[in-house]
Formats: sequence, structure tokens, C-alpha cells
Amino acid sequence: MAFILPSGAMSLADGTGPESLDAYRARGGYEGWERARVLDPGAVVAEVEAAGLLGRGGAGFPTGAKWRLTRAAPGDGRYLVVNGAEGEPGSMKDRLLMACAPHAVLEGLLIAAHALEATAVLFYINDEFAAAIAALTEAVAALPGVPGAGPWVDRLTLVPETHVYIAGEETALINVLMHEPAQPWHKPPYPSDRGYHGSPTAVNNVETLAAVAALWQHDRKWFQAWNPALFSVSGDVQHPGVYERPVGYRLDRLLADAGGPPAGHTFTAVLPGGYSMAPVFPQEFDVELESTALRTLGSGLGASIIAVASNRTLGMVAHDILEFFARESCGKCPVCVKGSHNLAAALAPAQQGPLSDEQLTAVLAMAAKYRKKGICSFLDSAAQVAHAVTPHLGALG
Ligand SMILES: Cc1cc2nc3c(=O)[nH]c(=O)nc-3n(C[C@H](O)[C@H](O)[C@H](O)COP(=O)(O)O)c2cc1C
Repeated sequence: MAFILPSGAMSLADGTGPESLDAYRARGGYEGWERARVLDPGAVVAEVEAAGLLGRGGAGFPTGAKWRLTRAAPGDGRYLVVNGAEGEPGSMKDRLLMACAPHAVLEGLLIAAHALEATAVLFYINDEFAAAIAALTEAVAALPGVPGAGPWVDRLTLVPETHVYIAGEETALINVLMHEPAQPWHKPPYPSDRGYHGSPTAVNNVETLAAVAALWQHDRKWFQAWNPALFSVSGDVQHPGVYERPVGYRLDRLLADAGGPPAGHTFTAVLPGGYSMAPVFPQEFDVELESTALRTLGSGLGASIIAVASNRTLGMVAHDILEFFARESCGKCPVCVKGSHNLAAALAPAQQGPLSDEQLTAVLAMAAKYRKKGICSFLDSAAQVAHAVTPHLGALG
């Protein structure tokens, strides 16, 4: 199934290259924009809300509701900010999407801009994504050839920025766009109330916008039946890459599609929400990849799916994750700087072998102490992963 990506596009290495405007049109591209642009903007918002599209940037917030709230907030201007940061370890879907299907992102962007009646659109992109930047630049240059797109071209700015992990968080990202340090602010205010220069702002992930385009190319019924999503599968699988599958596809099937574990090994865990969510274990692999089912296992969806097999230990992986958090803490909240470093240090012995009962108890107590601390979810994610993994790091596994 390929509705979002051109068929066959699975990684930047497969040579698919950027899809031209003509090629995108040949598979129904911009038909959704044609339909949406003649409708009242409020009706477009209502339709996206009724379709039940959830954001693909990690938090899974309902897209239509975000647009409705942004439209309802008072302010001089109203902004659409596009999140092309993709800093989550293991995630490769957004850069592939932007590089291979730039028009799918732009079609969703046009529909969103119309629905929001946006003053301007700021498109943040990690400046390491050279192929994506080139593809988007070319696609934007072709936009005047799309009926009704012309007026939006002048209001759209592509902003390639030197990237740090926290800049993907929506408030930090808005700060970067305002030439402030890449640090989050305490919510509220939410960007939908007061975002870019104090004006109501909707921040959307690039895949969310491509899903908006797919929805409008078809219809609500189709969308609810297919709900296409891009899953970045990495770690210990034979064929890492981006897999377009419906939301709710079973994890064990996705792992099989990705070729299974390395030869001679078995899976020991999967991080279905990347570094930000708790792992799930083999007896749980029949779970459907959607937030409610994963929540019942104490986990969730995020931006990437990372497999762990018996060729390395869970202790090594846990320590890598906590080291990542310690390295990437933006420094704004002392509790986050200290907490992420303390968690990484406490899990360091897990690289060598099983933790003792005392060590297990100490890590669990520390993880509990750092839950829900700091002004964004960064430290909470680190504590959540430590809390979920640690019981599996003792001698009895
Ligand atoms: C530490 C952190 C990093 C994030 N990084 C990204 C990112 O790289 N890309 C992204 O789209 N969202 C990222 N997010 C989520 C954004 O804050 C925001 O929820 C998302 O862009 C909203 O888009 P959506 O509603 O279309 O999913 C991150 C969140 C946190 C807490």
C-alpha cells in the first residue's frame, strides 16, 4: 500500500528521488486541494476533525481540534508552523517524505493554510537534510503551476536551521523561528493560543500534512478505513526502512515485513515510540500500532520503532537511551540536566551485566523522582523509559 509515499520509496538510499509535480498529479496529487480550497475554511477544519486524524509528530494530538483551537484564539495574525525537525533517534520517515514526496507535504500545507486562514507559513527544516531541502525548494518553485496555490507561495518561508534535539519540541521550535535560544517554554500558553510572536499558531509535523492531503484526495470514509502512516523501523531488523502501513497494523507483522531479527537471533524488546516511550516485550508483539492499544501496555506511538534483538543486551540499549537524554538536555531546567545525567550514570553498570537488587531499587526510585519534572516532557520521557526497562535488567531478566 502506498498512498503517501511514491511506491517503492523506503529509504533515501533506494534512489527514488523527488517526485515531480506531474508525477504527483498522475497519482491524484492536488485533487484534494482542489476540493478543499473552494470550501469554507471552517468546514475544512470540521472535516479533518471528523475524520479523526491524529498528529504524526509523536504526541498524537487531533489535528482538526488543533486547527479549531488556533482559529478560535484571538490575535492579530495566525500562523502555520511546519515541523520538519525529525530529531528523534531512529526516525527517518520525515526526511524521506520531504525528499521523495515534497508535493504531498505541500498539498497538505496548502489545505492547512487555507483551513487556518493563515497569515504566513513557516516551514522549519533540519539543515542536515540536504536532499529534502533541495526537493522542497524545487517543489515550492513549481507551486505557481497549481491552481489557487500562487497567493500562498509568497506567504511561505522555508527555514533550514542547525538542529538540536529539543528544537523539535513545538515551543522550542517557535523560539528558534523567532531567533531565540532553542528552549521550550512552560505550557500554557499553548502555541494555539500564543505562539509565533504571540499570535495563535498551529504546529504540524510534515507527515501529518501529507496525511491531510491523502484524506482530501479520497474522503473521510476512505481515510477511516486506511489511515495510512509511515513507520520508521530501525535497530535489530534485517531490512530497516520506512514502511507505509495503516495505523493499527500489528507490530509482529511489521517486524516480519522488516525481515525479522538478524540471523541466529531473537527479538527481546521493541521501542514502539522510539526513545520517548517504554518498550514492549515479545509476548506483547501482537499489539496493534495505535495509541489506545499501546497505552494499555504502558507505552505509546512516537516517531520511530526500534527493535532490540539478542545480539545486544537490553542493558546496553537502556544506557544508550539515557546517555542520549543526558547529552541532549537543553539546559533550561536544572532538574532535567541533573536528572538525565543521574539516570544515565545509574544505568551505566547495566552495560556490563545484570544489575543487583540494590541497583534496581535505586534506579526505580530515581525514575519515580523525575517523573513529570521539568517544563517539557523531555525528562519525563527519560524517567519513563528507565522505569519500564529497569525491571528487566536484573539477573532474572
Ligand atoms: C523533546 C521533543 C522533541 C520533539 N521532536 C519533534 C520532531 O523532531 N518533529 C516533530 O514533528 N515533532 C516533534 N515533537 C513534537 C512536537 O512538540 C509537536 O507535538 C508536533 O510537531 C505537533 O505536530 P502534529 O500535531 O502534527 O503531530 C517533539 C516533542 C518533544 C517533547
